[in-house]
Amino acid sequence: MTSARGEVLVLDDAAQVARAGAERFVVAAARACANHGRCSVALAGGSTPKAMHALLASQPLVDRIEWPCLDVLFGDERCVPPDHADSNYRMAHESLIERVSIDESHVYRIEGEREPAEAAQRYRTKLAEVLGSSADPPRIDLVFLGMGEDGHTASLFPGTPVLAERTRWAAPVYVPRLDSWRVTLTAPILSAAGEVVVMLAGAGKAEALQRALEGEDGAVPIQLVKPPPDRMIWIVDRAAASRLRL
Ligand code: 6PG
Repeated sequence: MTSARGEVLVLDDAAQVARAGAERFVVAAARACANHGRCSVALAGGSTPKAMHALLASQPLVDRIEWPCLDVLFGDERCVPPDHADSNYRMAHESLIERVSIDESHVYRIEGEREPAEAAQRYRTKLAEVLGSSADPPRIDLVFLGMGEDGHTASLFPGTPVLAERTRWAAPVYVPRLDSWRVTLTAPILSAAGEVVVMLAGAGKAEALQRALEGEDGAVPIQLVKPPPDRMIWIVDRAAASRLRL
């Protein structure tokens, strides 16, 4: 179905969500590599992407991707060292990067071990280098996002000042609920992406998904990610979609 906020694909379960996300990855990467020789992709943290990574790193999909053509970015990072169990980089590395032929020089992690404002500033510089700074914000070809039960995405958490960010492409954010710092890409650069793929599963996400798709503007932070509807797809399972008026 199509909504004002993008296409919505409802599948049976989390495994199918991961599979559909992986298919989307393959198609979008092939298109970007054919069109302009490289594909920048921002990965998400959390549990759902992990299953997608496993599919991408194994047959038959692994052979359908021109891995050396990819530039790997991150939508957000927890402020921990890269070998920490909470590190999104570590998760992506173990589930995907070290298992495929991506050169480390094409992996651009957020340096969660640094002071948050400094890590964000350094990532802004990195984004300009990788994506080219002629457009403001620059375009990431493909952005994967998850969504929390409170409607956060990347590390755009409800009630945090980073939601109002309009000029910086990456910013530090203190999340009181978690009593921890994170660094996140901001709504303007996420909204400028060539394609945004939101993947989520489980009944715990049903209320937030309903608010995201059917609520007033401002109901949940993920609504701030607002590319034109034909550039955004929500891949969700039945349990998460259970409150939608489909
Ligand atoms: C992170 C994320 C975050 C995540 C959601 C959903 O680093 O935690 O990028 O935005 O995608 O919290 O996570 P789950 O898929 O694990 O529910």
